[in-house]
Amino acid sequence: MNTLEAILTRRSTRKFKALPVELEKLQTIVDAGRYAPTGGNCQSNHFFVISNPEVLKKLVELVQSAFAAMELREDLYKSLQNSIRLSQKGTYVFNYNAPALIVVASQKEYGNNMADVACAVENMMIAANELDLGSCYINQLKWLNEDSALLKYLQSLGLKESERVYASVALGYADTESGFPNRNQSPRVGNEVTFV
Ligand SMILES: Cc1cc2nc3c(=O)[nH]c(=O)nc-3n(C[C@H](O)[C@H](O)[C@H](O)COP(=O)(O)O)c2cc1C
Repeated sequence: MNTLEAILTRRSTRKFKALPVELEKLQTIVDAGRYAPTGGNCQSNHFFVISNPEVLKKLVELVQSAFAAMELREDLYKSLQNSIRLSQKGTYVFNYNAPALIVVASQKEYGNNMADVACAVENMMIAANELDLGSCYINQLKWLNEDSALLKYLQSLGLKESERVYASVALGYADTESGFPNRNQSPRVGNEVTFV
């Protein structure tokens, strides 16, 4: 698969097989993230490659508790409303039970933190597609990046005082008949282009 093909056929995967991802593939993917551009070449992203089921379970529990404690209001972003609703029912699994999650943090006092992290996430999702793995951008740990219980737990995993999480990416083998991720090229309906 060439680069353009990998970009054009990357689609989000939200259903994963309960199969671990090979460490070698995780290393290749996180390297693709590490080679993404960063503002001023500061390379201050911090990648947590998590495939330990106990750690993933704990993150799912902490995310669910944090959302369950929030007030469900109609004026909230739809996706956030959904997270709160499902958490209050006790059925919210923010990472779609993916066997691996790469959490990306950056310096909290740095203006390009989210931009740097998003560049890394896109690189990793394209690399995952090339390696026949499904992936999905996961924003919940960013929304909850000041939640004290989550912060404390992430700090126990190595998050520094000066860092916060700005995105994560769920990874795994897609639960499809073929075992390959969905690669339908969905026609663009937005993202206007003006040539001048
Ligand atoms: C900044 C950003 C945040 C996103 N957050 C989530 C998320 O938390 N959960 C999720 O399932 N998908 C998330 N997505 C994935 C989008 O929903 C998805 O990319 C979009 O619907 C287009 O579908 P495609 O990825 O299959 O092309 C996010 C994407 C971006 C760029």
